[in-house]
Formats: sequence, structure tokens, C-alpha cells
Amino acid sequence: MNFDRTIERRGSHSMKWDMMAERYAVSAETGLPMWVADMDFAAPDCVQDALRRAVDHGIYGYFGDDAAYRAAICWWMAERHGWQVDPGHIFTTHGLVNAVGLCLQTWTAPGDGVVLFTPVYHAFARTIEGAGRVVVECPLVERAGRYEMDFDAADAAMTGRETMLILCSPHNPGGRVWSRAELQAVAAFCERHDLLLVSDEIHHDLLMPGQRHVPTPLATPGSLDRLVMLTSASKTFNIAGTHCGNVILSDPRLRAAFAKTLVGTGISPNSFGLHAVTAAYSPEGAAWVDALCAYIDGNRQLFDDGINKIPGLRSMALESTYLAWVDFSGTGMAREEFTARVEQGAGIAANHGTTFGQGGESWLRFNLGAPRPVISEAVDRLQRAFGDLQ
Ligand SMILES: Cc1ncc(COP(=O)(O)O)c(C=O)c1O
Repeated sequence: MNFDRTIERRGSHSMKWDMMAERYAVSAETGLPMWVADMDFAAPDCVQDALRRAVDHGIYGYFGDDAAYRAAICWWMAERHGWQVDPGHIFTTHGLVNAVGLCLQTWTAPGDGVVLFTPVYHAFARTIEGAGRVVVECPLVERAGRYEMDFDAADAAMTGRETMLILCSPHNPGGRVWSRAELQAVAAFCERHDLLLVSDEIHHDLLMPGQRHVPTPLATPGSLDRLVMLTSASKTFNIAGTHCGNVILSDPRLRAAFAKTLVGTGISPNSFGLHAVTAAYSPEGAAWVDALCAYIDGNRQLFDDGINKIPGLRSMALESTYLAWVDFSGTGMAREEFTARVEQGAGIAANHGTTFGQGGESWLRFNLGAPRPVISEAVDRLQRAFGDLQ
């Protein structure tokens, strides 16, 4: 577990590194990629060993008998989140964006409204629009420096054409760990407007000290008939390229409908994803995640201390995820100017806040999943790029 180790990723078909210069005004040689949400850390040894065993076997045929895979998921959810999952309630997809697309196909019709609390993970809107559904944005409000939902405004925004709400829990990009009461309020909102609640909990293991994630079914046991749970090991263990995600459904009618979609789309998981997840959800994987969270917390402190010293910049206090959300509105600069300073000035590729929907206009998102010297370098570069504001 040496998170300080630098591993060269250029030339490895890494989206984060090898597509950075194409997407952002930074140099491929000297740019710091702080955009796509994967980390520059090697996966734990237990995962690497399992994948090596699978590779070394030499035969890459169809995977069968996923009992160990399901058992590993059930163990993890009980052990880490106090959530008892029935192994028969788990469906496997090619990751969670794929799962969102399959949910839209299963439970909504073209033209239906899908509610998002924005700003939120950009692929939700892209997938909803790509499927011919309509994004209905309910902007989060900031109170005491953190995001909250405004249910009065959301109630007023409903037209009756909405059929689904996609919740990001914990929240990307604001890093909120929603409380039990907030999750109950979301479920009540879904009841009032007859919405299916899709809860994407991909970031649930990446918790800052003192935070406790509440799985939505534990907060809302009375609403399981309208709840779709999405979970994945891919953020936690940095295995997103193995493209494996889960849809967990307690309700038999939801299960029957989703099973039909999987048959109708021919989705069946990639064996390497199943090997990786089975190995990751283990006591060895758990020890690695504990160390990872402590390391990310150190990165977060270093980054926030440096950023909050720059007049006009403000990093939202992260409760979860390795994604820092930085507000540039205090600089009084236009979006083009602060973005140019970050890209051309500091040589940093950070996600543009506008892609996250309403409320993201004055923000950029920085990925802190990198060795500490990279975070330190990023802070130095940003302090220099905004040096005239000191
Ligand atoms: C909330 C959320 N859901 C899903 C994903 C992507 O999931 P996958 O790679 O399994 O499609 C991300 C990636 O950043 C995310 O933040």
C-alpha cells in the first residue's frame, strides 16, 4: 500500500492521461490530469493477484457460477455498510452508466422527465438525453458551505411527466454524505410524485474521517418497491476499466422487469470484472480501503489548505469521494478567464462545472486520487496562476 509511488500512465490507453491534451488546453507532457474520476494508484494486491491468475490460466472462455461473486458483494455490504443483501437480488451490468441506461430503458418511456439534483455527475444527463428522455434539474442549494436539497422548489418544478429520480449518494461533485433524514425526504418526494428512485451509491466506500454512509434501503425500508440500488467496486478499488456494476433490487416486480431488459439487451458481465470484484470485496480489500481513505483525507487537507488561501477561491468541504469541488466566483472572473488560468496558466486539466448542470457554472472539479507530490504540485501551480490576487 504505497500510495506515494508514481506509476507512469502515459501511453497506457488511460483516458485521464492520454486524452487530456485533446480535451483540455494543457500539454500532454507537462499537464496534470485532475479530471476523469479514476485514481493514479495501483489496485490492491488481492485484486492484482486474482487478475494475474485469470490471465495466466490462458483460456478466456465464458464465465459461469457467480456464487462467489455474489457472496463477496453480500459480505461487503453487510460488513462495511450494515446492509443485508440477498444474493438473488443482484444483477450485473457493464458498470453504472450502463446500469443507468438499462434502468431508463426498463422503467421510463421516451419523453419522460428524469429528475436530477444538480450540479451532479455529468453522465446522468448525457445518458438521459441520449435515451430520448428529458432532464429535469432541481438545483441544490448551498447552506453553510454544503449542498442541501430544496424540496419546496423541487415540488414546484414537477409537471406530472416525471417518472424517475436519479440520486447520487454520496454526492458527486459536492462530496455530501446524505443523512438518513435527507434520504427519507427524497423517498417521500418520490412517493408524492410517483417516481422510481434510482440511487447511485458508487462512492459509498470513499468516506472522510467521521462520516458514515447510510444505504438508501436502510433509511427508507418502506419504499423498497420503488427503489433501485446501484453499487460498484470500481471507484473504491480503481478498477473502472473492468466495467462491472450492480443493480440490486429487493422488489420482485422490479426484478422481473430488469431481468427482462438484461435478456433483451444481451448484457452479461466480463469475466475479468467478476474476478476483480470477488477479490476486492475481502478483508484484504477492506484494509486497503481504510488506508486509501486516510491517504485521500491527507490529500484533501493539503489541497483545501492551499486553495482556500487564494483570495476568491473556495473548496467545498468533502465528506466523501476524492473529487474536490472548487468555486471561483469570488475572483469575479468570467468562466473563460478562470478556466484559462487553470489550464493554460497552471497546466491542470480539471472538469468544467458547467457539465454538471445548473449551479456548476463558477466551479471546477479536481481529482485528488493521485500521489501527494502531485497534489502539492497542483497547489503550487494554482497559487502561481492566481498569484496576482494574493
Ligand atoms: C456517481 C457516478 N456514477 C457512475 C460513475 C461511472 O460508473 P461506471 O464507470 O461504472 O460506468 C461515476 C464515475 O465517476 C460516478 O461518479
